Amino acid sequence: MTMREEIEAAAARYPDRRSAIMPALMIAQKEHGHLPGPVLEEVAQILGVERVWVYELATFYTLFHTEPIGRFHLQLCDNVSCMLCGSEALLTHLETTLGIRKGETTPDGAFTLSTVECLGACEMAPVMQVGDDYHGNLDAARLDALLESFRAAERVTSVERAAAAPGE
Ligand code: FES
Repeated sequence: MTMREEIEAAAARYPDRRSAIMPALMIAQKEHGHLPGPVLEEVAQILGVERVWVYELATFYTLFHTEPIGRFHLQLCDNVSCMLCGSEALLTHLETTLGIRKGETTPDGAFTLSTVECLGACEMAPVMQVGDDYHGNLDAARLDALLESFRAAERVTSVERAAAAPGE
């Protein structure tokens, strides 16, 4: 299903197409990785809504990214429960391990590191969201294992890309 088809399907679930802007932005961001101007224009065009409405939502909510982010967006919760369970030390560990500060992306474009408000999963604090997945009960060793699994996934993907395009 193309992005346009997915957005049309989402819009069909609402009596007013304006109500589909949020799900449409989610679909577009999944497709493109982030939401640059031309993509926002396309979303507005598909939904037949004012461009400013799409821009407003895309720039207001922190779950949308108008600038490029890493292929793995590490969103570490630093709210009360997670902080009490050691999220500050985990942030320091991630910054040291990745060689970046909060809000930055590694030079290879693999990881962006952010802190976020409560993810609604305090029972498994400290928690980090990566993509659609939550990773809880974290400590430094678990973080290292997670990072290694992401790097392994990157290696598999790059090998698959090379195999799919042998002439390049
Ligand atoms: Fe971190 Fe609620 S405070 S998930």
